Amino acid sequence: MPDKLKKINLLHIQDVFKKYGDKVILDDIDLSMGPGELCAVVGPSGCGKSTLLRLILGQERSTSGQVLMNGTPIGPPDVDRGIVYQKYSLFPNLSALDNVLLGKKLGMWFWQWREEKERLTEQAMEFLYRAGMSAHFTKYPYQLSGGQQQRVAVIQALFAQPKILLMDEPFSALDPGTREDMQLFTLELWEEYNLTIFFVTHDLEEAVYLGTRIVALSQYYTDARGEGKEVSRGAKVVLDKHLRDVGSSASPDIKSTKEFAELIREIRRDAFDPAYRQHTEKFSLTHRHSFKTV
Ligand SMILES: Nc1ncnc2c1ncn2[C@@H]1O[C@H](COP(=O)(O)OP(=O)(O)O)[C@@H](O)[C@H]1O
Ligand SMILES: [Mg+2]
Repeated sequence: MPDKLKKINLLHIQDVFKKYGDKVILDDIDLSMGPGELCAVVGPSGCGKSTLLRLILGQERSTSGQVLMNGTPIGPPDVDRGIVYQKYSLFPNLSALDNVLLGKKLGMWFWQWREEKERLTEQAMEFLYRAGMSAHFTKYPYQLSGGQQQRVAVIQALFAQPKILLMDEPFSALDPGTREDMQLFTLELWEEYNLTIFFVTHDLEEAVYLGTRIVALSQYYTDARGEGKEVSRGAKVVLDKHLRDVGSSASPDIKSTKEFAELIREIRRDAFDPAYRQHTEKFSLTHRHSFKTV
């Protein structure tokens, strides 16, 4: 891809390194994402997925390299980037409705809020209705089930109309049935509102089911640096693959297909199996937005 095109993509991450002390966590990450994509990021636990997400959010800075949105280096967290965590995205002392409204309220002066309050409350109620939560809008987070809390958290993030929605293992704490409901809910919202989603999970099945694209991050690979304890190797993008077109929805039926199982096997081996190490030159970076600087 020509350099100019990459820079105008919605999200552009280039040559990003992140160290904590002497330990390299992210080891030269290159990633570019266009609007409308649902990019599912998988990787072994502890490989740096949340770290990468915090860099995109602007909560932390990379040790080197750059993170751009629409060609501009990102600053501290703002409304352009919405976030849903596994837990605790909601404020415990606010009702579901007030949690949804909070972002807008904080961004307004007192008089402006007074003027807009009614209209925004109506809008927030519509969103809560959309999420099947209209009967619970006065409830506090502790009065809601895990699944209901995550519904409100997703709606809260969407209400600020972010350019990109970041989700960090948002359904990992839910039971399998609720989790499946939430996956469908996410896909519905993604289609309905033309969302762009960066979805972090360590669940391969979830990633392959949800994503229009799958990116695997892993520290299990070989390169010119050789082996040995003295080499501090961080995670790289070891696989970046197109799964389905933007705008096309996935049916839960794909989960039982042979191709689905095969793809999961392949990614499990390439990204999760410490005994199987691909050389950096053999990485499968076939997505059209995929790139690698050397
Ligand atoms: N603030 C921090 N200070 C030091 N080490 C950290 C910090 N945050 C994360 N780490 C380390 O960085 C690695 C990657 O963590 P994380 O991004 O949370 O992984 P993942 O989300 O893939 O499970 C882990 O080894 C973790 O212990
Ligand atoms: Mg994490």
